[in-house]
Amino acid sequence: MKNILITGGSGFIGSNFIEYILKITNDVKIINFDNLTYAGNPENLKNIENDARYKFIKGDICDEELVSKIFSENNIDSVINFAAETHVDRSIHDPNIFIKTNVLGTGVLLSNAKRTWGDNFSDKRFLQVSTDEVYGTLPEDDKSIKFTENTPLQPHSPYSASKTGADCVVQSYFDTYKFPTLITRCSNNYGPYQFPEKLIPLIINNALNDKDLPIYGDGKQIRDWLFVEDHCDAIWTVLNKGKIGEVYNVGGDNEIMNIDIVKHILDHLKKPHSLITYVKDRLGHDRRYAIDAAKIKNELEWTPKYKFEDKIKDTIDWYLSNSEWINNVISGEYQNWIDKNYK
Ligand code: NAD
Ligand code: TYD
Repeated sequence: MKNILITGGSGFIGSNFIEYILKITNDVKIINFDNLTYAGNPENLKNIENDARYKFIKGDICDEELVSKIFSENNIDSVINFAAETHVDRSIHDPNIFIKTNVLGTGVLLSNAKRTWGDNFSDKRFLQVSTDEVYGTLPEDDKSIKFTENTPLQPHSPYSASKTGADCVVQSYFDTYKFPTLITRCSNNYGPYQFPEKLIPLIINNALNDKDLPIYGDGKQIRDWLFVEDHCDAIWTVLNKGKIGEVYNVGGDNEIMNIDIVKHILDHLKKPHSLITYVKDRLGHDRRYAIDAAKIKNELEWTPKYKFEDKIKDTIDWYLSNSEWINNVISGEYQNWIDKNYK
């Protein structure tokens, strides 16, 4: 059995990852370490919470004492760090928690992994789940330019700046100690269990409730969308086959304008385009993200399995059949449940 410490496993991508890994392996034990912020939800893992290969620990990755205890008490082979504050709009209003969790928290995990593993870490791995937003923004008029792993880091939001800081600390552990780090930088994900403050679940939920759909600026910003299971598979591939010290971009060659996604969702739900409401643009809003994923495809033979047209339909249908999940998340019922059960 391999023991993998997953941080942030109760969030959107982390919970999809845990479910996926327990489905495709039988020799992996998962320790999910998450402090259940507003974005972390134990309900996301209800399908596997009683699996003997799964253990949950509630806590903060910035908590030195607890992180040290977790490393001493569990024979951890790999760390996959999903834990982060992740919403750009929140980072614009309250940057410091982003800097604390995303930079300091990553540092605490790294120093404890290093202390625990000592010099004997050749078969260990520390994988940092990062984002294409560290590269900044791309021109809209030249589609031949995409983010490669060599694109300079030029983040604009406090969120992306804090993720960049974390990446630099991770990379420094490889450069200084030859510590076995890996970094993945993925484009925008969509799929089940995404907190309904992000574009796709927010639009689905508002449309279902005939509420205005807030489109920032002209709505012509471009994102490169990837189905969450494809991202999970890429992380697993990098963990097992990636070369230590390397960065791997992950994306689906799937650039779409925000406004087109919104219209697509409205059409699928048979809701009127008149719900679209243009609002003030996000501060420092990046115009275009697009990933060149040639390295992971060529070197590690990863390729996305799913088509956007199919998986966006499944995703909309998932939110339609899980309206209780959305309502509970929005009403804060889970937060009350968490306060009662974990505090
Ligand atoms: P999310 O906001 O849905 O989940 C984050 C999880 O981290 C939550 O469960 C939360 O409780 C936990 N967490 C937050 N602060 C913590 C702390 N101090 N200690 C322990 N746990 C803490 O985020 P997500 O969309 O699942 O993203 C996961 C990772 O993937 C993040 O690192 C993010 O930067 C990266 N990423 C996300 C996307 C995307 O499109 N969502 C794309 C590329 C990269
Ligand atoms: P988001 O889902 O917040 O992801 P990110 O900012 O990390 O790319 O936003 C995706 C795009 O949608 C981004 O260009 C901002 C835009 N957007 C809106 O136009 N309206 C909204 O209400 C939200 C949440 C996002």
